[in-house]
Order: sequence, then C-alpha cells, then structure tokens
Amino acid sequence: MKTLDDLLGEGVSGRRVLVRADLNVPFDKSDPTVISDDGRIRAVLPTLVALRDAGAKVIVMSHLGRPKGAPDPAFTLAPVASRLGELLGAPVVFASDTVGSSATEAAAALLGGQVLLLENLRFNAGETAKDDASRGAFADELAALADVYVDDAFGAVHRKHASVYDVPARLPHYAGGLVVREVEVLRKVTETPEKPYVVVLGGSKVSDKLAVIKALLPKVDKLLVGGGMCFTFLKAQGHEVGKSLLEAEMIETCAALLAEADGRIVLPVDVVAATAFSADADHEIVGVADIPAEQLGLDIGPRSVALFNEAIASARTVFWNGPMGVFELAPFAAGTRGVAEAITKIDGFSVVGGGDSAAAVRTLGIDESGFGHISTGGGASLEYLEGKTLPGLAALES
Ligand code: 3PG
Ligand code: MG
Repeated sequence: MKTLDDLLGEGVSGRRVLVRADLNVPFDKSDPTVISDDGRIRAVLPTLVALRDAGAKVIVMSHLGRPKGAPDPAFTLAPVASRLGELLGAPVVFASDTVGSSATEAAAALLGGQVLLLENLRFNAGETAKDDASRGAFADELAALADVYVDDAFGAVHRKHASVYDVPARLPHYAGGLVVREVEVLRKVTETPEKPYVVVLGGSKVSDKLAVIKALLPKVDKLLVGGGMCFTFLKAQGHEVGKSLLEAEMIETCAALLAEADGRIVLPVDVVAATAFSADADHEIVGVADIPAEQLGLDIGPRSVALFNEAIASARTVFWNGPMGVFELAPFAAGTRGVAEAITKIDGFSVVGGGDSAAAVRTLGIDESGFGHISTGGGASLEYLEGKTLPGLAALES
C-alpha cells in the first residue's frame, strides 16, 4: 500500500488532500461540550502537520458517535474543530455539512497550508449505508472535494463505510502515518510475538471478545480475564456470581474455552463486590467462591491483581484490551490501575488495544510512555487480531 511518505515524495503543495481521521472522542459526562480525552486528535496530528507543512490544502473528515444518518446537534464535530485548531496552533475552518454548500465552498476557498474539518460524516445516511449504491453516491461527492485521499482513521478501518471503503476506490489513496504504525505493531503481535506472550482481556461482554479469544488462544502463554466478562467464566467454573454481569448463553462456551486452554486462561481469585453500581455503594473484597447473592462484582480484587501481575512480569509481549473493572468510579479502579502499571514495567513490548483501555490509561494518569504502543482502535485492533479482512485496509491495498 502507498503511504503518506510516498505522497509527500510526489509533492502535495497546492493539492487538495482528503484525510479520513477518527476524531470520535469521548466527552465529559457532566459537560457535553468538553472533550474528556483528546488522544485520538493528537494521534492524527503528525499526518496533518506533515501535509500542512508541505503546502497541501488539508480537508479532514470523521464520524463522531452514532447519529442516525441525519444532522443531530448532539453529535457535532464543532468542539473537535476548536480543539484541533488549538493543537495545530492555527485556526481550523469548520464546515457545517459534509458535501453541501458549506463544505464545497470552504474546500474551494482553502489555501495551501490550511486545514478544513467537515461536519460529522454520519449526518449523511450514505456514510454507513449497507447498499453499495447509496454509499457510492456519497463517496462520489466526498471524492469530488479533493485530488487525493489519505486514510489515517485506524479506529474505523473495520467499517465498510463510504469514507473508509468507497472513497479510496475513487481517488489516489495513501495510508497515513498512524495507520502504518498501527498495522506494523498489530502485525508484530499477531505474527511474531516474542514469548512469553500474555494477553489481558477485560470489558463487559464475552460475546464481543469470543472471536479474538479463539484466535489468540493457540498463540498465547497466558490469557488473563478480568472486567465484567470474567463472571461468565467464573460461573462456568461453578461459582455463584450474585448480581454480577452474566451472559447465561455463553456459559457453556466459556466452559469449553477453559477446557481447551488447559490452565492458560487465568481468572480472578477475588473481586470487589458492591451492593449497587455506584461509587457510594457499600463494597467489600471477597473470594470468587463467596460473592454474596445480592451483590455485584465491579472490579478484580488485590489477590487477583497480584496473580495477574506475576504472569505479566515475566512476559516479553503483552496485549491488553478492556478495563478490569469500572475504573471510572474510584472504588473500582484499582484492578485496572494495578494491571496497567504492571504492563508498563515489563521487559518487553506492550500494546494497549482499544478506545476504552487507552482512555483508562489517560484517565488514571498512568505514564503513557511506559507502553510500547497505545492503539487508537478498539474494535479495529480486535478484528485485526481475529485475522479478519478489514475493509479500510483492503481498500488501501487495492
Ligand atoms: C470507535 O470508537 O470504536 C471507532 O471510532 C468506530 O466507531 P463505531 O464503533 O461507532 O463505528
Ligand atoms: Mg466502537
């Protein structure tokens, strides 16, 4: 696949470059105008700066959240345009639509070295349409805005969407620096991980992670399971889990995975159980055999952290996706923090996969430089590890 370096080598001065970025950032729950983690904006800066400094007319496009194919002020990218301008140290022109008069006029008026951000791509039903014709029609209009296309939206490469899959079929296309780096890292942990290889999985649902567990099990030395999903595994081991998250229909699958793993799947031995899903709820540390019927587990306990950390400490490669507990609530953050800190200390290469885990690292104030790589893609990195063909990457390769 051609890359940003190839494009810069060809020269971009005065050319209109359409950059697909993943600026799908989280907002503060108490103030929905405040971006709570701008990691994804910062991750695409090097690509935008390189294009701008080379004199390109830079047109950036992204989705934000999941609006239903029509404009919805709750999902505007306007705050992202401001933040992007702050980070770039220069104002970013913001178009109030994607392919309408605001966008086409702003694109036509753009000077070399200027940056324009289009409004949320998902305000147009064509972006996520299942049928090729609707997506194609939207892609035609997007492609008409520019001369070349750069995909630096790693977090969205698993989506067969117009801006990811169809626009590159219509313009000379290049992978941005972030996409190149993400793929290089994920290829390394998929194809040639240095052993021992330890994978840490959390998050709420086993069903979301089943495919990746199946794909990774033959390759890993240890698979540590925390987060809400651990309770279905604990139930499969015969424990009662009270009111904890449980996917009853997955219990048999978990039992089969435990049998297949032959001791390589490591589960928590204690949890923090609470009377309610709330920071003020009464809570206690209990062994996994003693989870009270009326309580729910919201974090892994300290003995589990120690057990997981022992496996992590000897690893040469660690891939981590998914928090160990409800880290957003202070009483249930210790598991995620403990595991994350252990991962920063390994003598080897570590990858944090995923929006939530990456946000956890930054929210908990853990030193980001302690990790080998923090991926900007949650779903995308998991689907890569599953061995799936990712539409956005396939489009860049063809
Ligand atoms: C993400 O946050 O996972 C990416 O931005 C993709 O968003 P999506 O899951 O809504 O397609
Ligand atoms: Mg997602």
